Amino acid sequence: MINIKTQVGIIGAGPSGMVLANWLKKLGISAVVLELRSREYVEGRVRAGLVEQNTKDILKELGLDERMKKEGVVHDGVYLSFDEERVHIPFGQLTGGRTISIYGQQEITKDLTDAWLQGGETLYFETKATKIADFNTKNPKIHFIKDGEEGIVECDFVAACDGFHGIGRKTLPKKSFQSYDITYPFSWLGILANVAPSTDELIYSYHKNGFGLHSLRSETVSRLYLQVDNGDSLDNWSDDRIWSELSTRLGTPGWELEEGPIFEKGITPMRSHMIDTLRSGRLLLAGDAAHIVPPTGGKGMNLAIADVKHMVDAFVHFYKKNSETLLESYTDTALRRIWRAQDFSNFMTKLFHKQDEHGSFAYRLQKAKFDYIKVSKAGKTTIAENYVGLPFNTF
Ligand code: APR
Ligand code: PHB
Repeated sequence: MINIKTQVGIIGAGPSGMVLANWLKKLGISAVVLELRSREYVEGRVRAGLVEQNTKDILKELGLDERMKKEGVVHDGVYLSFDEERVHIPFGQLTGGRTISIYGQQEITKDLTDAWLQGGETLYFETKATKIADFNTKNPKIHFIKDGEEGIVECDFVAACDGFHGIGRKTLPKKSFQSYDITYPFSWLGILANVAPSTDELIYSYHKNGFGLHSLRSETVSRLYLQVDNGDSLDNWSDDRIWSELSTRLGTPGWELEEGPIFEKGITPMRSHMIDTLRSGRLLLAGDAAHIVPPTGGKGMNLAIADVKHMVDAFVHFYKKNSETLLESYTDTALRRIWRAQDFSNFMTKLFHKQDEHGSFAYRLQKAKFDYIKVSKAGKTTIAENYVGLPFNTF
């Protein structure tokens, strides 16, 4: 039997768990991380790569932004395209200098994990948290299994940063929360390709054939997405068909999409999921454990890290000021930003995806929104400030 004592027991070594662990360490609060998967698996997962200003500020404060500053790409704006017409949203100008960076989520996770392990801290990979017990007492426990051996983490708090399939949400008392779910009637086919991006900033596009997105990872690697039907299969999408469709959907007169070898392909369904309680006693949830947003707008990881910021504030008040006030308000504080992000992600999804026949009422409303954004500084500012993320001191 493995027995560990720490102040905060963290389940999950994704971005939320690893930001939390490193942040607590900086504040002198001890933590231990348990992760179901192997290190290779966690660091190899391909996910979005959009880093909001708030997330950049947090990584900087933790002194963990060195590689992101070197290898990430700062973007001061985004292109929105509709029926082959393109509009630019200049972030800095509209938000007082705030920007985003493009840097893969798994690279952030890698940087955070390296820092944690190099500091000699405990992180058990391939270790399954099986039960969270006694979270309504001052001595909660995480039961786990590592290499066939049972163990217990005894702690003051359990942070469930264990994603959608974790045990954190399942452990919350059933009657303590309400769930909300939306399944969108389309999915994203995403590719990574060895080709220089054909754009300096991201392009989100509505086209009568469906949504397209041009993102990137570096000067030599592009990341692109296409709206496809739910249930569609990669077998239906040859590389030629993918490039041809991307070129059509992202196209504007006088612009060409460069093609290159595709080295990664996948189809992901789109959904929104929410629960409206993030805490029960001394069990606190963060990130995908509590909410999923559709990827249009790239909010997922940023929202997970925003939850962690509020959780850290609550722990600091508890340990340094002997106060439970911020623990008690954790759910409400986090939910305000989560609902904001749900709304923005839903807005961006509906604006740029084909939802009905081209020319239908839904299409006319989408076009009316785009036509407004095109001419209105207020419209552009709404997109810009939500896209780069509202500062913590104002929201
Ligand atoms: N025991 C230990 N670890 C677990 C368990 C368990 N029972 N269940 C799940 N985990 C681990 C998963 O293997 C995963 O590595 O918890 C981790 C959760 O990490 P993420 O899914 O990356 O969730 P989070 O840190 O909240 O990050 C949210 O991920 O899906 C994206 O768009 C999302 O970018 C957002 C980010
Ligand atoms: C990505 O680069 O993977 C990405 C960027 C923006 C999004 C979604 C994904 O909205």
